[in-house]
Amino acid sequence: MLQLFSPAKINLFLRVVGKRLDGYHELSTVLQTVDFGDYITLEQSDSDQLICNDPALPNDESNLVLKAVKLFRLKTGIKSFFKIYLCKYIPTQAGLGGGSSNAATVLWGCNQLSRANVSDKDLQTWSAEIGSDIPFFFSKGTAYCTGRGEHVFDIEPSKNPSDGISLVKPALSLSTQAVFSLLGMTPKREFKNHHSDRVDYEQGRLVPFNDFEAVVFAISPEMRLLKNRLIEAGFKTVILSGSGSSFYCIGKPNQNLTLLEPGLRVFPVSFLNRSCNDWYSVVRS
Ligand code: C5P
Repeated sequence: MLQLFSPAKINLFLRVVGKRLDGYHELSTVLQTVDFGDYITLEQSDSDQLICNDPALPNDESNLVLKAVKLFRLKTGIKSFFKIYLCKYIPTQAGLGGGSSNAATVLWGCNQLSRANVSDKDLQTWSAEIGSDIPFFFSKGTAYCTGRGEHVFDIEPSKNPSDGISLVKPALSLSTQAVFSLLGMTPKREFKNHHSDRVDYEQGRLVPFNDFEAVVFAISPEMRLLKNRLIEAGFKTVILSGSGSSFYCIGKPNQNLTLLEPGLRVFPVSFLNRSCNDWYSVVRS
């Protein structure tokens, strides 16, 4: 039996470079894992089974966790089956990568439990077949990502801001696919290289931004209002994570944020990284 932490991610900045001919969008982004996440217990079994504390999540093969197990068998040829307990804290449709993180964590766990000895690099490459955000989680926790998200370049771990980070999730949830299609971009064959974003980020010259904010604020003026309120509440930086609907906020609020609007959830977090042979872990308090 193996118990693993499955961290949420945030996009420290996110540029949508353009729409590709295959329908995906070319991205330039830095992702970072945080010490807020789900907990997964895996054990070998006679058949695959997913047991989740959130009844709203599908526990059939449409769930990325079970897709990851199937992918592991397909790629390794190992006939192992797994019973998986998923204890969910990461809100869904929040831009926090919960499903992708769960899939990466389960792939890593299957590899450990069945002693298949597949390298993280191979797990990372395989995982791109079931989701664009999954390969990132096989980095050390801080990475510059391009392509549709699956080209992952490890970079120096981000320094935790001295005045703290909070994730703020409004009651509104947003479908990734729907937000991408709101961009209304015309497909193109080639794109300008945006690797200078990485250099700017590493040299501390990049002012955080997220290209999804414009379309999200256009369909939901309440989201723009919330961003403004969070800034008024004392945060220095408030940026949408992924395709939303969560914001990551840097700084110290000077008021009780949950009073800002009904259904708002606030998670104080720190950046989290992992070392070479270990998965992400946090000390539970
Ligand atoms: O790869 P994944 O299954 O996570 O993507 C979900 C959806 O998000 C895709 O079907 C696509 O509509 C959109 N997407 C995109 N460009 C990306 C990543 C995702 O258009 N780089």
